[in-house]
Amino acid sequence: IKNIGVLTSGGDAPGMNAAIRAVVRAGIYYDMNVYGYIRGYEGLIVNDFMLMDRKSVANIIQRGGTILKTARCESFRTAEGRAIAYKNIKQNNIDALVVIGGDGTFTGAHIFEEEYNIPIIGLPGTIDNDLAGTDFTIGYDTAINTVVDAVDKIRDTAESHDRLFIVEVMGRDSGLIALRSGIGVGAEGILIPESSVGLDDLVKKLEGGRKNKFSKIIIVAEGDIEGGAFSVGNLLKEKFPAYDIRISILGHIQRGGKPSCMDRVLASRLGVAAIEGLVHGKSGVMVGQIHKDIAYTPFSQAIKHLDINQVSPAWLRLVNILSL
Ligand code: F6P
Repeated sequence: IKNIGVLTSGGDAPGMNAAIRAVVRAGIYYDMNVYGYIRGYEGLIVNDFMLMDRKSVANIIQRGGTILKTARCESFRTAEGRAIAYKNIKQNNIDALVVIGGDGTFTGAHIFEEEYNIPIIGLPGTIDNDLAGTDFTIGYDTAINTVVDAVDKIRDTAESHDRLFIVEVMGRDSGLIALRSGIGVGAEGILIPESSVGLDDLVKKLEGGRKNKFSKIIIVAEGDIEGGAFSVGNLLKEKFPAYDIRISILGHIQRGGKPSCMDRVLASRLGVAAIEGLVHGKSGVMVGQIHKDIAYTPFSQAIKHLDINQVSPAWLRLVNILSL
């Protein structure tokens, strides 16, 4: 493998730049030419790319976002779009791709790799942490720390005013941001898409809770089945007229900011492992870290969301015990 392309795709995540840096520098270390494609799969289709040298990734390890930009590319979902992408790649003599993203990115990579038999390795870059085959995805640690920072501030004002806050965090299909950050902020309740009993439990808990304690934080994942923070808020307002309820939606601040040290290190390690995977003939896999070890998991497995139904009861039990 002499020439490789690297791209970031889907929602950005803090640490993507650290991953790009690692892929570029490791590629150069193994005598490859590394080309950065702009705006994810769109870059393959419109042939927007540039040669990356050692210096092109200097001073980016600490930066949020992605210097290669990103997109959710509709045309790559079509066979015609992928055919153009392949034609361009061939013309540019690209031998392999490294794609950094989440389940949408790997779904595309999986199809493309099978259709055209081009070596592709994936790096898990998403704040959602919802991929199988890695304990943590790049960006998750930073995102949950952003949530914890924000909710600590909300807790101050909630406490002063004796208010109940419903805080919505990201996670359209996954409650992992809500679960871990909720425990980190000492939330009184956590509602996630994966658990349908959450709201009933929460109502029971609020009914039986400390009568003189009104400051409460409920963390709701964006994809919660009750329909997000506003629906939960309306329901709780009806049930508990005595509570002074406020709603706060954290939104895209969770996707930005300097990556944490954990995310930088994970991205650096996985970036090198991606290149070494290609050197050793691996393809169609995502590189992750499981119990401290590097693991290569086929895209088809990685995109089967981590089964959080297995972990959520234990986490939710913690919340119940600790918010007495
Ligand atoms: O997948 C990452 C994520 O941040 C999800 O948690 C969220 O639901 C989604 O992306 C938001 O996407 P967009 O920025 O395209 O609105």
